[in-house]
Amino acid sequence: MDAAAQLAEYEQAALAAIAAATDADGIEAVRIEYLGKKQGRLKDLQKLLGQVTAEERPVIGKQFNEVKNRVSAALEARQSELEKPTAEVEGIDVTLPGTPLRLGKRHPLTQTIDEFKSIMARLGFATVDGPEIEDEHHNFEALNIPAIHPARDPLDNFYLATAEKSSGGPLLLRSQTSTVQIRVMERTPPPVRIVSLGRVYRPDTIDATHSCMFHQMEGLWVEEGVTLAHLKSVLRAFMTAYLGDDVHIRFRPSFFPFTEPSVEADMSWRDDWLEIGGAGMVDPNVLKAVGYDPEKVTGFAFGLGIERFCMQRHGITDIRRFYENDVRFLQQF
Ligand code: DAH
Repeated sequence: MDAAAQLAEYEQAALAAIAAATDADGIEAVRIEYLGKKQGRLKDLQKLLGQVTAEERPVIGKQFNEVKNRVSAALEARQSELEKPTAEVEGIDVTLPGTPLRLGKRHPLTQTIDEFKSIMARLGFATVDGPEIEDEHHNFEALNIPAIHPARDPLDNFYLATAEKSSGGPLLLRSQTSTVQIRVMERTPPPVRIVSLGRVYRPDTIDATHSCMFHQMEGLWVEEGVTLAHLKSVLRAFMTAYLGDDVHIRFRPSFFPFTEPSVEADMSWRDDWLEIGGAGMVDPNVLKAVGYDPEKVTGFAFGLGIERFCMQRHGITDIRRFYENDVRFLQQF
């Protein structure tokens, strides 16, 4: 048989063996037999090249290379075919398109609360939590709100109809986070610098700007030498961090039983003034009630509505959106 015929025969046999291989081991055996570098059929054929005449050599040499390339290509193609995962992996069809998994998101208010905490942490305020079910002592009495005060009207608070007795009087859903000021000062000697963020409850008529449950951030800094100027600086730094440099704040005189003097804080952002909460210097009576010496330490406190900030930043016009759990709303944050 001449060289050309032998090459043709080799190619046919190699391609047939490649096609017949059914797994990775099989194809590897075919590779060694037909394309093996040390010994193998191709190696034998190479010897033929030495035996052909000088005229034949270029033709046979070219044929040899072409056959080798075709066999190598066929082998590689079969190799990668056999490496593919089989369609059935323990009952799962891995060739089917995937089902997109929609990840949930944190609620916009939760995102706001987390951001507030981290801003206040940068300003040196630790976060503390307080109970949502409170007694009259922490919600009113210790905050200098006496029994005759209109803020204690049962119609303005969610008192709990429970037989449970507490040393602090009847229980209610807290109407303000100022309760946490008392809880912290009762157990910690000064200095204290804390914020507390959470839900408060009031039987308000629900509309676009009112809800019977909403969130507040309470702040308290008591130490020697704390003044109203510190309060203004901290509030400005906080608001700037949340809304940007375009924020201004102003104080209007006000009254809260637990602060003296008291202020109502407003902020302007994008040319609108908006009331953001109450604040002031902690009343000496409050400091005394928790065992602090008002001659030695002073402090400021503030309470801000959290929803309002989030609504401003995102252009939300109705507070009820936060509590309806409509995913079309929630997905946007
Ligand atoms: N607790 C008040 C409210 O809910 C807000 C407030 C006013 C908090 C003055 C304070 C403060 O800490 O000093 O209306």
